[in-house]
Amino acid sequence: MEFFLDTADVEEIREIAAWGILDGVTTNPSLIKKSGRDFKTVVAEIAEICDGPISAEVTAMDTAGMLEQGRALKADLPDNVIIKIPCTPEGLAATKVLNSEGIDTNVTLVFSASQALMAAKAGATYVSPFIGRIDDTGADGMTLIAEIMETWSNYDIITTKVLAASIRHPTHVLACMQLGAHTVTMPTKIFRQLMSHPLTDKGLEGFMRDWAAVEAAGNA
Ligand code: G3P
Repeated sequence: MEFFLDTADVEEIREIAAWGILDGVTTNPSLIKKSGRDFKTVVAEIAEICDGPISAEVTAMDTAGMLEQGRALKADLPDNVIIKIPCTPEGLAATKVLNSEGIDTNVTLVFSASQALMAAKAGATYVSPFIGRIDDTGADGMTLIAEIMETWSNYDIITTKVLAASIRHPTHVLACMQLGAHTVTMPTKIFRQLMSHPLTDKGLEGFMRDWAAVEAAGNA
């Protein structure tokens, strides 16, 4: 069970990394745009904060371009950076070659179990099904996770990890884990929501108030 952050905001990554349970980070071109920072600089900083896999996405549309960008990112950035590749035929070919070169990949924009299967066949390290974006269409994103996990269960040979992405609320995370997904990547807000409960806050407030009374009585 791996928990990744889906952000390129370095301060947020520092905050969650300090909790001690952060296993990796995923970025994409939209998150890099949101950060307003230089792509390689921000990915390198993230890779220093978190030891786990840090996904950096290629933007070429053709296999040769993806390979060129993927190899350059691996050469220029820390070892824990992995290459995020779109789930297209060109991306499949690039994934196969990068895998043969020992470069880890995350095949992204996966919306069907058949796409996930093809990415696994190409040797992807991770496949990223996008749950929330499927929910947005009126379908059930979690059904896709169930279909992928069921397919995987038939083949011991598949080592590709299922990285559930486009997570919109804490129950998505729990449902993914109940289905046996290997990894979930989520925004900082979801990490915070997973840890937050009003009864924890209320209970702690009561304990602290009573402990202050114990101290005031000289009994601490
Ligand atoms: O890693 C990208 C993925 O998680 C996208 O999420 O919220 O833009 O659908 P979202």
